[in-house]
Amino acid sequence: MQSTNHHPFTEGLLTWYRQHARELPWRQTQDPYAIWLSEVVLQQTRVAQGLPYYLKLLEVFPTVESLAQAEESVLFRHWQGLGYYSRARNLHKTAKLVVANFQGQFPTTYCELVQLPGVGPYTAAAIASFAFGEAKPVVDGNVFRILARYFGIETDILHSSARKEFTDVAMELIPQDQPAEFNQAIMDFGSLQCSPAPLCASCPLSLTCFAFQQKRIQDFPVKQKKAKQKNRYFNYFILEQGNQVLVRERKERDIWSGLWEFYMVESTQEEELESLLEMDDNLSIMLQSTSVQSLKSPKLHILSHQKIHCRAWHVQVPDNLDINELAGFQWIRPEDFEKLGKSVLLLNLITDNLHLEIFNDSMPR
Ligand code: ADE
Repeated sequence: MQSTNHHPFTEGLLTWYRQHARELPWRQTQDPYAIWLSEVVLQQTRVAQGLPYYLKLLEVFPTVESLAQAEESVLFRHWQGLGYYSRARNLHKTAKLVVANFQGQFPTTYCELVQLPGVGPYTAAAIASFAFGEAKPVVDGNVFRILARYFGIETDILHSSARKEFTDVAMELIPQDQPAEFNQAIMDFGSLQCSPAPLCASCPLSLTCFAFQQKRIQDFPVKQKKAKQKNRYFNYFILEQGNQVLVRERKERDIWSGLWEFYMVESTQEEELESLLEMDDNLSIMLQSTSVQSLKSPKLHILSHQKIHCRAWHVQVPDNLDINELAGFQWIRPEDFEKLGKSVLLLNLITDNLHLEIFNDSMPR
C-alpha cells in the first residue's frame, strides 16, 4: 500500500527506486551483522570494488562470532586490496565487543550502533534502517548533492554546520513507514541519476528540482573552492646604526598586523639585491657606500593562504649618514626590540643569524 502523505521528493524517489533499484546482495538480508559488514566494506569504496570482498568475507566469517574468533592476520589477508586497514581493525574490534558485551546480538538502535568502533552516523543510520526499520537518514556526499540541487540549499557543504542542516532536511523526508527503501533509494539515485554529472533529461524529479528549474545545476552543491596559495617575497634588511636597528610595527590589514619587523621590501617574485635597491629609494640611500652582508634565510614560511619566501641582509649604515625620519619606522636598541611581538618567521630569521653582533645577548635564543 502506498502512503499518501509523503513529500513529493520522497514519493518521486521511491517511485524511481521501484524501477531502478540495483540488485545488491546485502539488500536480500535483514541480518544486522551482514548489513554492518557490507557498510564497512563500502566505506570509501565503490560498490563494484567492494562487492566481491563482501561476498568472500561473509563466506569466510558467516557470523559475528566467527569474525570475533578469527586471527586479525586472517581478516587482513581477506581485506587485502581494499585499503584503509583501520576499517578492518575496527571491524575485528567491534565483532569482539558485540560478542563480549551484547551476547553476539547487534544493538538495535541508531544511538547504540553509532557508539561502536568504526560505526559513524552514516553506517549507524544504514544498519538501523535496513535491519531494524528505524527512520534515520543516511547522509553523505551523495545526499548533500541531491538535496542541495533539489531544494537549492546554498550552504557550503564543507562548512561545519552543513551535516546537521542536511540531516535535518533528510529527517523531514524519510518516511516512517519505509525508511530502508528511502535510504537504499537515495544511495542508488545518487549513483545512477543525480550523479556528479546528472541525467536530468530522464529524471522524474526534474519538474520540482530547484537547480534544474533555475538552470543552475552546476551551482550545487555549494563547495567553497580552496583559495589558491599566494606566493609573497619578503626581503628583510637589518639596518644597524650606532647599535640601533630600524624597525616598525605592521599596521595594515594584512598578516601579522600589530607585530614588529625590520625594514622590509616586498616583491612579487624573487629579486636580486640590485633590483630591490632600484625599487626602494630609501634603501638605495642607506646602502650607498657601505657593505651589505647576505644572511641565512629562514625556510619557506607557509600560512593557510600564503607562502612567504624570505631573504635577508644585514647592513651597517655609516654613523655619518643622516637618515631622515622614515614614516612609520623608528630606530630602537636591539634589547628593546626583543620585547616586542614578532612573527615566527622573524624569530626564525633572528635565531638563524645569532652570530650577528647586534643579536648577541639581546635576542631570544
Ligand atoms: N554505499 C554504501 N552503502 C551502500 C548500500 N547499502 N548500497 C549501495 N551503495 C552503498
